[in-house]
Amino acid sequence: MNSIVKKLVLLCGSACVLFSCNTAEKQPVEQKPADAPMSYMDIVRERYSCRSFDSVQVKREHLDVILEAGRLAPTAKNLQEQHVYVCQSPEVLAKIDSLCPCRYGAPTCLVVTWDATNVFTYPGGKYDSGAEDATIVATHMMLAAKSVGVESCWINFFDPDAMRNALNLSKNEKVLMLLPIGYAGKNAAPNQNHFSRKPIEETVTYK
Ligand SMILES: Cc1cc2nc3c(=O)[nH]c(=O)nc-3n(C[C@H](O)[C@H](O)[C@H](O)COP(=O)(O)O)c2cc1C
Repeated sequence: MNSIVKKLVLLCGSACVLFSCNTAEKQPVEQKPADAPMSYMDIVRERYSCRSFDSVQVKREHLDVILEAGRLAPTAKNLQEQHVYVCQSPEVLAKIDSLCPCRYGAPTCLVVTWDATNVFTYPGGKYDSGAEDATIVATHMMLAAKSVGVESCWINFFDPDAMRNALNLSKNEKVLMLLPIGYAGKNAAPNQNHFSRKPIEETVTYK
């Protein structure tokens, strides 16, 4: 090999090393496949209130994950006073729509209630565990939904007693909230509120 060829080989080699270094730097830190499981913080960050749903029904395997997450929620004294209604029939969805404008076309609407006769009353007698326990159940389900690619929106814009009557629930049952669930519709996107959170210093105090 004459010296010019040697120099050319060296030059190409260096260029390759440089090029591969640059490429490595530009790679994202973590490249996950599209169907990789989301971390808890991914789920918390990416969940948003979905207000446009596809009419395709939630797959049974996804619904089962969501309901199981609710079942495993902690409750005061382990009373498990919650109940979850899976509303999918056109008749029941129409009843819900007659009392609340916020189903947003979701093909399934979960209704979370608690049995007011089976709650733990805290010392002082001012509060009981009912709404708190049912809220934890609902939160588990909302986040589990996101983990399997199902969107949701927490809904409280209705009269809970009217909803209880419309759904023929017992007088002992209190309706906590509705959770419309489904796959994102064409126009689904987080609204401005989703990106507006107070700085942590305003909501957390170390004492
Ligand atoms: C207790 C509660 C009640 C809510 N009620 C409604 C409702 O009735 N209708 C609605 O469209 N969104 C409702 N939301 C959604 C909130 O508006 C939403 O969570 C908030 O603006 C933050 O946006 P993000 O969920 O997209 O992050 C409710 C949320 C919570 C936690």
